[in-house]
Amino acid sequence: MKKGQVYEGLVERVDFPNKGIVIINDEKVIVKNTIPGQKVSFSINKIRKGRAEGRLLEVLEKSPLETRDAACKSFGSCGGCSYQTMSYENQLEMKKEQVVRLINQVCRDYNFEGMLASPKEWGYRNKMEFSFGDEYKEGPLALGLHKRGSFYDIITVDDCAIVDTDFNKILSCVLNYFTEIGASYYHKMSQKGYLRHLLVRKATKTGEILVNVVTTSQEDWMSDLDNKSLTEIQIDIYKKLEEQLLSLELQGTIVGIMHTYNDSVADVVQSDRMIILYGRDYIYEELLGLKFKISTFSFFQTNSLGAEVLYSKVREYVGETKDKNIFDLYSGTGTIAQLLAPVARKVTGVEIVEEAVAAAKENASLNGLSNCEFIAGDVLKVIDSLKEDKPDLIVLDPPRDGIHPKALDKIIDFGVERIVYISCKPTSLVRDLEILQEKGYKVEKVCAVDMFPETVHVETVVMMSREKNQV
Ligand SMILES: C[S@@+](CC[C@H](N)C(=O)[O-])C[C@H]1O[C@@H](n2cnc3c(N)ncnc32)[C@H](O)[C@@H]1O
Repeated sequence: MKKGQVYEGLVERVDFPNKGIVIINDEKVIVKNTIPGQKVSFSINKIRKGRAEGRLLEVLEKSPLETRDAACKSFGSCGGCSYQTMSYENQLEMKKEQVVRLINQVCRDYNFEGMLASPKEWGYRNKMEFSFGDEYKEGPLALGLHKRGSFYDIITVDDCAIVDTDFNKILSCVLNYFTEIGASYYHKMSQKGYLRHLLVRKATKTGEILVNVVTTSQEDWMSDLDNKSLTEIQIDIYKKLEEQLLSLELQGTIVGIMHTYNDSVADVVQSDRMIILYGRDYIYEELLGLKFKISTFSFFQTNSLGAEVLYSKVREYVGETKDKNIFDLYSGTGTIAQLLAPVARKVTGVEIVEEAVAAAKENASLNGLSNCEFIAGDVLKVIDSLKEDKPDLIVLDPPRDGIHPKALDKIIDFGVERIVYISCKPTSLVRDLEILQEKGYKVEKVCAVDMFPETVHVETVVMMSREKNQV
């Protein structure tokens, strides 16, 4: 096999997250963004340590698993969804197999409890970060998601099917408005231009919506629009946008409109300065009977109904909490801590984002919980100050890359009887499970939860217990 060679083959299976496996002359080739059963053509673009990777050229024959049309016109070119043409049952089956294959690489004799579906297959997301850009060089202003595999090109996703119609109406309104007044978008290469992102959050239970337009402070172009001062023109621009947004016929209610300035060179949504144009800068969401205040930038599970399924499983795996001292490490806005707190003695959450910790504290008092403590900081460091406060059990919900090895050692040193580990990246999870097993923990139960229908992502929950005479 040589770089540049073109082959045709059948996708035997897809490994998490999107690695299609094609066998050519007894050799395994990874062809990304494919579906099991598709006949594809691809060109070899990488051969490293005997592992070949191919770039998909064309799907020659559909897979028998592709039994329906895509719901969204941008499917295929948009980098968001991958599996719209598969029935939801087939998606669940495939993701389940992916998780089991990975866990089986490191674990034996555990109970796999299957794959729990998202209560909503479509329109399930409560948050979107849209980018401004263009679909092709010098094309019209676009607002949406990155084209598959592209760092620059943006596809307008005004009929996105994994958000509800309110998101699409807000996106179209903002895009049309800025197109009409001739605003430019921020070019990542030249670092010139104005519009960067549009953030929309909508609480599934309360219907409250937040809209946040993120721009640079490069506002000179506005002086061509009117004879007034730049500040007056700027105020006029956002007043008109606010009027248009508030006159939209939506199912939910816009409770806040913000304008955020971000002049950072990095392609991340962050705030140098935020102005509340209308209402407030947070929404309320409800999960399993508790209320959560969510601000524009804090982490919150993006599928609220799916989060209820996930957290219910976490609660089941945690088991009896009465009078227990619990650690919720990587606690975000403290959702898990608060769901476990009602009968526990104490729950301590540790989270690196200070804003999320502030929200967690506020949420706990909103929910009348006085036995939750939230500490801002890196788990790796904060854990040293918690040695005197030995927990009875630990819940872990780290970011995608899993747990820092040194932090994992310190967590293991507590020697708790039970650990519940939630992971949004099973490949990182199995790496950490191997270490936990070596150090005396046994994987008892595993359950996968589909928080992200149509996409390649999957959530996994693991319950582990400490084997006797270990640690
Ligand atoms: C997958 S989220 C889990 C949030 C929360 N458990 C929930 O369900 O809403 C992971 C969280 O870990 C936080 N985080 C990342 N690295 C961290 C670190 N080194 N120490 C503490 N928190 C960290 C992130 O800010 C994020 O809020």
